[in-house]
Amino acid sequence: MDLSEVKHLISEPAAAFLSRPTHRLFIGGQWTDAADGRSFETLNPATEEVIGRVASAGPADVDRAVKAARAAFDQGPWGRMRPVERQRLLLKLADLVEAHAQTLAEIESIDNGKSAAIARAVDMAIVVDFFRYMAGWATKIEGSTSEHSVPYALQAEFVTYTRREAVGVVAAIVPWNFPLVVAAWKLGPALAAGCTVVLKPAEQTPLTALYLAELIAEAGFPAGVVNILTGDGPGTGAPLVRHPGVDKVSFTGSTEVGKLIGHASVDNMTRFTLELGGKSPVIVLDDCDPAAAAAGAANAIFFNHGQVCCAGSRLFVQKKLFDRVVADVAQIASALPLGHGLDPAAQMGPLVSREQMQRVCGYIDIGRAQGAQVVAGGGRQGERGFFVQPTVLADVQRSHRVAQEEIFGPVLVAMPYDDLDQVAAWANDTPYGLGASIWSNDLSKVHRLIPRIKAGTVWVNCHSALDPAMPFGGYKQSGIGRDLGKASLDAYLETKSVFIAV
Ligand code: NAI
Ligand code: MG
Repeated sequence: MDLSEVKHLISEPAAAFLSRPTHRLFIGGQWTDAADGRSFETLNPATEEVIGRVASAGPADVDRAVKAARAAFDQGPWGRMRPVERQRLLLKLADLVEAHAQTLAEIESIDNGKSAAIARAVDMAIVVDFFRYMAGWATKIEGSTSEHSVPYALQAEFVTYTRREAVGVVAAIVPWNFPLVVAAWKLGPALAAGCTVVLKPAEQTPLTALYLAELIAEAGFPAGVVNILTGDGPGTGAPLVRHPGVDKVSFTGSTEVGKLIGHASVDNMTRFTLELGGKSPVIVLDDCDPAAAAAGAANAIFFNHGQVCCAGSRLFVQKKLFDRVVADVAQIASALPLGHGLDPAAQMGPLVSREQMQRVCGYIDIGRAQGAQVVAGGGRQGERGFFVQPTVLADVQRSHRVAQEEIFGPVLVAMPYDDLDQVAAWANDTPYGLGASIWSNDLSKVHRLIPRIKAGTVWVNCHSALDPAMPFGGYKQSGIGRDLGKASLDAYLETKSVFIAV
């Protein structure tokens, strides 16, 4: 394995982790090879060099992991733990992630391509805060009591109440754009609720979840409470979702795979939540400062190289400001320094994989072929690493594929609009409904627009702001259910109604 090019840029603990010959599966508290011995390589997308060999879990490993999670749920000390002890373990885990944040950020950067500085300041900060936030919910899970109104037993007396109970074994399937963040968004509420978990990271970015497994063990979570299976979708994810021992699936990824998972879940009546794709609008009203709106729009699409489910990928600017805002966004795009995630001067790194680079460049070509004008960027940068230039397309029609389909890269499509009725209709004119931002200081217009936008989150004068307490998820084909907030905890709990005749 050749780590020569990056080794001098990373700290000793990250280098030591990456030097391991094979990264193994974490099942029932033990590190183990795949039953059939298979493994796969993970790359540094900035250099295309191999940075690790990782075990590839098959159906036999899925079965072992689900059984370990089931045993931990039904028989182990976990099920008998008091909520305050689950809270303490989650707080301990947050402390450990904080202590290892630099190492985790470097590993995330090398595996995914994102800036290590941003991974530390944003991704790891989100993970730490979210574990702390969710730790608090472990001790605040409450049912309710009510006065009964049983209509056909007027002489009888009942005590009625509800209990919230952990749903059981959770299969968590996460993507490659925010590998550790999304893993935490599943683990936090599952563990606060008292569930056990089999987590499958994406095959492009398997490493930080494996590092986290060591911290989970160190924090003192009992064996089998969290199991980590690395592998791809068809080989590992599909058998995991179909396993009859799984009680709930929590998935973040493409709408296409989300639908497969929904169908498969219903066969076993497995509970599921899906956080899927988006084509989120950025709506600029003509009262606002065009320079500030342009800076916000650029950040909405270019953050994490556009590989963000709620990226602001469609820019609607009221006619008067259109040319000015688009010119400013194009200028910002052209000036963004691209580079290796460990290069402190780089503001944008490579896309995660050759496949993703080709998909994104393919969309830029489709845009051109349908008549879009490239006003910044326009394709791959360099010949080594999966870099794509920040790209702005104008002269786009709403029916164009680049205006309808999720590109999941640094590509913005810009369209002028006349009035609020028109932009409200256009903003909703895709199958998706994850997020939207409105840029204006006209309160009455903003408040009239917010209820008309079909999206799980609306931001005003900001985009992609996230808070541990604010639910995050999609309308329409952007998903079912919510991550974050108390809403995410509810998805890991069943409700049991109890009647006692007295
Ligand atoms: P994907 O949906 O195939 O992968 C996400 C996760 O699902 C990975 O862990 C993958 O191994 C797993 N998976 C794939 N097929 C599965 C199956 N049949 N059963 C169970 N698990 C399965 O996404 P992919 O192919 O990496 O990216 C394709 C497109 O999806 C992107 O271009 C983007 O548009 C969208 N996407 C959206 C994300 C989001 O945050 N909403 C994240 C990643 C991708
Ligand atoms: Mg990788």
